[in-house]
Amino acid sequence: MTVLTAQAIGTRRLDLLPLRVQHAEEMAVVLSDPALHTFIGGAPDTPHALRSRYQRQTAGSGDPAVSWLNWVIRLRHESCLTGTLQATVSPSGEGHIAEIAWVVGTPWQGRGIATEAARGVVAWLGGQPVQSVIAHVHPEHRASAAVAAAAGLTPTDVWHEGEIRWHRSLRNGTGASRGDR
Ligand SMILES: CC(C)(COP(=O)(O)OP(=O)(O)OC[C@H]1O[C@@H](n2cnc3c(N)ncnc32)[C@H](O)[C@@H]1OP(=O)(O)O)[C@@H](O)C(=O)NCCC(=O)NCCS
Repeated sequence: MTVLTAQAIGTRRLDLLPLRVQHAEEMAVVLSDPALHTFIGGAPDTPHALRSRYQRQTAGSGDPAVSWLNWVIRLRHESCLTGTLQATVSPSGEGHIAEIAWVVGTPWQGRGIATEAARGVVAWLGGQPVQSVIAHVHPEHRASAAVAAAAGLTPTDVWHEGEIRWHRSLRNGTGASRGDR
C-alpha cells in the first residue's frame, strides 16, 4: 500500500500548491467559464458546490490503495490562482499508475501554464513510487493533447469513455527530471 500526499511544487513561473478547501472561493471565479467543460462535460460549480467538492477531494479517496493528489496552480508574479492539476495514483498490474488531468481558467490560457504545471507534476511523480503516468484526452482536444505531449506522454490505441489514453513510463530511462519543469 502506498499513500501519497501532494507536496508544494515550484516551477519557473508557478507554485503548485496542495489543494485546500479555502481555495474554493477564488477557484470558483477562475473556473466560471462554461467553455471549460466543452470536452470534459459538466458545468461550472457555484462557490458553495466547489467548496463541497474540495472538502470531498481533500478528505481522500476512502480507499487506502488510491491516493487523490490535487494542486491549485498559482501564477507567482501575479499572486493569483489560475487552474488545477490532479493526479490519481492507483495500483495496477505494472506497479502504481498516476492518472493526471489539468484545467486552466480561460483568462490564463495560451500562456503555457498547463504545460509548465503538467511537466512539474510529472517530474514530481518521477520521484515517487509511481511507474507510469496516463491521461485521457478527447481526440479533438488539441490543446490538451499538446499539454500531454509536452509532458512526455504519447498517445496509445486504448480508448476510455470516448477519449484516447496517453501514457508515459517513468521507469525505463525516460523518466521525468528536474529539467522537465
Ligand atoms: C487544456 C488546457 C488545460 C490547456 O491550458 P493552457 O494553459 O492554455 O495550455 P498551454 O498554454 O500550456 O498550451 C498547450 C498547447 O495547447 C495549444 N493551445 C492552447 N489553446 C489552444 C486552442 N484553443 N486550440 C488549439 N491549441 C491550443 C498551445 O499552443 C500549446 O501548444 P504548443 O505547445 O504546441 O504551442 C485548457 O484549454 C483547459 O483548461 N481546457 C478545459 C479543461 C480541459 O479540457 N482539460 C483537459 C482535461 S485532461
